[in-house]
Amino acid sequence: MKISIKLGFWFFICIFIIEASSMFFLHRNVVHSLVNEELEALKSRGNSHSDVIEISYDEATLQHIKIMESQTDTEVVITDYVGKIITSSKTLDKSMDKILKRNMAEHILSNNGVIIQSDLHDEQYISTVSPFKTENGDIGFVYMFKSTEQIQNVISRLNEHFILASVLILFLMLFTIFFLSRALTKPLISMKEATRRMSKGDFSVSLPKTSSDEIGELSDSIQTLANDLNYLRKERNEFLAGISHELRTPLTYIKGYTDIARRNNLSEKDRLNYLNIIYEESNHIDNLLKELFDLAKMDQNNFSISKEKVNICLFMHSIFRKMEPAFESKGVKLEFICKKNAYVNIDPIRFEQVFLNLLDNALKYSDTNTLTTIEIKNEEDSINILVKDQGSGIPTEDIPYIFDRLYRVDKSRSRLTGGFGLGLSIVKEIVEAHCGIISVESQLNSGTCFKIILKGLD
Ligand SMILES: Nc1ncnc2c1ncn2[C@@H]1O[C@H](COP(=O)(O)OP(=O)(O)OP(=O)(O)O)[C@@H](O)[C@H]1O
Ligand SMILES: [Mg+2]
Repeated sequence: MKISIKLGFWFFICIFIIEASSMFFLHRNVVHSLVNEELEALKSRGNSHSDVIEISYDEATLQHIKIMESQTDTEVVITDYVGKIITSSKTLDKSMDKILKRNMAEHILSNNGVIIQSDLHDEQYISTVSPFKTENGDIGFVYMFKSTEQIQNVISRLNEHFILASVLILFLMLFTIFFLSRALTKPLISMKEATRRMSKGDFSVSLPKTSSDEIGELSDSIQTLANDLNYLRKERNEFLAGISHELRTPLTYIKGYTDIARRNNLSEKDRLNYLNIIYEESNHIDNLLKELFDLAKMDQNNFSISKEKVNICLFMHSIFRKMEPAFESKGVKLEFICKKNAYVNIDPIRFEQVFLNLLDNALKYSDTNTLTTIEIKNEEDSINILVKDQGSGIPTEDIPYIFDRLYRVDKSRSRLTGGFGLGLSIVKEIVEAHCGIISVESQLNSGTCFKIILKGLD
């Protein structure tokens, strides 16, 4: 069942129960007070007749009361103490007679009159009695009657109003529920449609920003998920295209040179030469696959880090010593600055990989007679390690992507400068696996500085 129908149905049931019960109680109270009012009015009318009779009990007064009542919708019957009718505004019928036959002796002392018949449904009249006692000692009763039919008429008119009001409220309620449930479920429906499209591989969904409540947040999350999946797919495609490009070049060499090396009429020297090229290219592929394998393991959080307390100055100095000859042979000066000893908790083997990569880049993208500096700075609660070169620098528009896999600023992928574009992605993965932060500042043609921030140990 559709959620809008379900929601609307339960909404309707709840409001219907509330409306029906409040209408029921309201109706009951209104009818009750209406009948009470009629009875009270009847009683006070009877009381005033009995008051008048007590003051002047004569034929003229009785006649006057009789005439007065015959002009209204109420009837009066005046009896003496034993129930003998003295006068009445109407010829008595069976129902009136039945009421008159009741024993009224118990009400004789009641000055305020008594309601003796209030049943609207089974009787023809509602009725009250007001006793009187004249100065001469004559005792009697003033009976007042009002036809229940008239009151029933008023009640049925009231019922009509109630029914009309209920139908109107019900109609408005249905109308409101219809629009409310639609408004509530509309964003859900578009979200359902979006996820359906996503499950079929179409991530180009765009959900409108509806509200800032839970539904709005859900819609935002789905939108973010779609964007991320779209980005991942794009990245995966680019990555695969990059890999196949990376593999195709050495494989073309291998294939071509193998073909030549197989020829019979080739001199041993040439054959060796070709075999060397084939060997180098195979090495190249091997390295690429190794790095890719490393990255894949990092992605699955599958590579082990065995952290230990490391003296960062000593550690960096050993790397400095390892790299110095390579820098020297290219004519690049490598400088090492560590003013204060500090300890960090790192995996030394992984971090060696990090700095070898950074220094390899610094060397690769620096010219002769430039300076590359390794500097360790102690900040308040962190250790900052900087690798700063005076090389070619990175164009500002490329900086956000240099940590991406297979990304290289120089797209020509020349064998002289280019690696695979994987070094920095490996660096980033390792630094982040140690809860560190890596950032870069670079200016084209003046140099690059990579900064790694690690949490220091006391
Ligand atoms: N110190 C630097 N100076 C100038 N450009 C740099 C520097 N370090 C990195 N880059 C740029 O960032 C790109 C990505 O670097 P990364 O180390 O990931 O790849 P690579 O060095 O090209 O290849 P790999 O490290 O896989 O052998 C490089 O191609 C280069 O353009
Ligand atoms: Mg590199």
